[in-house]
Amino acid sequence: MNVFLHRLWCSFCLMLGNQDSLIRYLLPIINFMKPNYLPGSFGAKVLSAEIKTQDVLHLHLKVSKRWPGFIAGQHISLTFNRNGRWLSRTFSLCSSTALWQTHRQVKLCCKIQKDGAFTPLLATLKTDDKLNISVASGDFVWQKIPQSTTFIAAGSGITPIAAMLLSQDHWSSPVTLIYRVKDASNAALLSELQTLAAQQPLLSINLSQSHTESAADFASKVASLALTQQYYICGPAPFMQAIHHALITSGVSKDCIHQEQFGLPAPSLSSDDITKIQATFVQAGVAQNILMAKGLSLLQGAEQGGLQASFGCRMGVCFQCVCQKVSGQVRDIRSGLLSGHGEEQIQLCISQPVSELVIQL
Ligand code: FES
Repeated sequence: MNVFLHRLWCSFCLMLGNQDSLIRYLLPIINFMKPNYLPGSFGAKVLSAEIKTQDVLHLHLKVSKRWPGFIAGQHISLTFNRNGRWLSRTFSLCSSTALWQTHRQVKLCCKIQKDGAFTPLLATLKTDDKLNISVASGDFVWQKIPQSTTFIAAGSGITPIAAMLLSQDHWSSPVTLIYRVKDASNAALLSELQTLAAQQPLLSINLSQSHTESAADFASKVASLALTQQYYICGPAPFMQAIHHALITSGVSKDCIHQEQFGLPAPSLSSDDITKIQATFVQAGVAQNILMAKGLSLLQGAEQGGLQASFGCRMGVCFQCVCQKVSGQVRDIRSGLLSGHGEEQIQLCISQPVSELVIQL
């Protein structure tokens, strides 16, 4: 079979999969002529892709005129096509809104996970490569700017906070950034933020390095802060839980704490969640029974059983894992809501089995 016929056949096979909009049924054929077209997303061109601090890729993009813009602190889904498969992940924007308004450019800081399926591919991007971005979303935004504010970030959690600080035009009250990193050489965006602090007397930066300050000392330092009126926290889940606890214990009201966590919550390990349940996946007419833990997502269950299910972001954003539930009940991992028992479309990556299921892949 020559290459043309092979690609046409692959396109036909892809068309048989479930998609979330009618045009997606035609996508393999449209992509044959227009490789980067993805309905519902916006084009973006790579201006530069550089590793500036250890493991962190700084991605500078020129975005389509049609892209509606963002509020500092929001995130986007980044999608590109590799070998006929769309891959997506969500990243917070780390540049100022002014950069987008004046030059239609945005920046992202992406931590490269060496063994990951997506981020190592980002490190291979070159100038002028084409990507797709989604509309910006998220409500982790700086709401009460006239009040004194403390931002507390760890690792990649600095990205939405950097966007908020770099986008700020009018400073009217003190702002403190507490930035927790392994060491200063790992601190993404630190030089940009230090430059801003040098120009803006109301902004102070406190760098905490984990090799010189233990987690317990750091948490008690946070707890001993003078009570500012607003706190914004962003970082890995255990870090945020510890800081949230330290603030609440020191008397800060819950309403004054705003937080953003990346990704889905870690799977629960209660005894009920490790109970096995049978999911039947039907792929190309062949049914396969998989006994999977109730605490896993159906995507993880299918993969553990050796099936190749479509996916992109693995966190409920890109809809590439949508497929048909024929029977059985699932729970939405994010909201805890239960589905009905009959036929409906579900997203595999955010659905856990509640009863025995039949899924059409
Ligand atoms: S993989 Fe993106 S929504 Fe499930």
